[in-house]
Amino acid sequence: MDKYLSMIYETAGYISSKLDFTPEIAIILGSGLGPLADEVINPVIMDYKDIPHFEASTVAGHAGKLIAGTIEGRKVLIMSGRFHYYEGHKMDIVTFPIRVFAKLGINNLIVTNAAGGLSDTLNPGSIMIIDDHLSFMCPSPLRGPNLEDFGPRFPDMTNIYNKDLVAHADNCANELNIKVEHGVYCYFRGPQYETPAEIRAARIYGADAAGMSTVPEAIVARHSGMNILGISLITNKAAGLGNGELSHEEVGAIAKQAGADLVRLAKLIIKKW
Ligand code: HPA
Repeated sequence: MDKYLSMIYETAGYISSKLDFTPEIAIILGSGLGPLADEVINPVIMDYKDIPHFEASTVAGHAGKLIAGTIEGRKVLIMSGRFHYYEGHKMDIVTFPIRVFAKLGINNLIVTNAAGGLSDTLNPGSIMIIDDHLSFMCPSPLRGPNLEDFGPRFPDMTNIYNKDLVAHADNCANELNIKVEHGVYCYFRGPQYETPAEIRAARIYGADAAGMSTVPEAIVARHSGMNILGISLITNKAAGLGNGELSHEEVGAIAKQAGADLVRLAKLIIKKW
């Protein structure tokens, strides 16, 4: 068997040996949503360092734990800490957990991130439901031999972010009186933040938010036939649009402050999924 496939099978086998249920929804926590992991009832916590083929997280503010259990009565599997391309991982490692989730039989993915705001309505603290993305700067995670067991060679990306789930997120936000925006997320490789010129160019292409994650995972999840909901927490105005320079510390601080609404929203989204 292909080495990558056997890695996927081995990791899926390890995770299912720890669980007596199949999770319904996988959730990748970006900065700010970390506290959602504390909401898991009867958690089974797996350290990345104990999970075969999982990488340890190298980013400040990103834990490295997989947490299974229930939230609002729904069975979830949460990634607290993700793998980024800028850490030096190949794209097949960045998206490895998604393949494992697919192998475990999980069809639903909530993917979250911290992002810089480009459009006027996206300011620090804003929540943006991802309608679509720009992957121009993203080396394709599907490059190489196609994994036929998971999906087709040329997967459609028209409805990568499921429209019913976007409407569902809107309804939940309305119910909670939480204001949400919508927009297009633009991937940048990082780890350097963008230049103002890059942000102006992205704006012309139709970007509303900029970040360094989510797109590889969403592409692979779509290839695997999953239903995807993407949510960005805007932690700063994108480069050149705010006052001064960008820093990881500032992004982390805003994510912490603004994350509480996002956690409330995520819980209702999960409950009514
Ligand atoms: N750019 C890229 N990634 C980010 C940003 C940003 O402005 N803010 C938080 N993550």
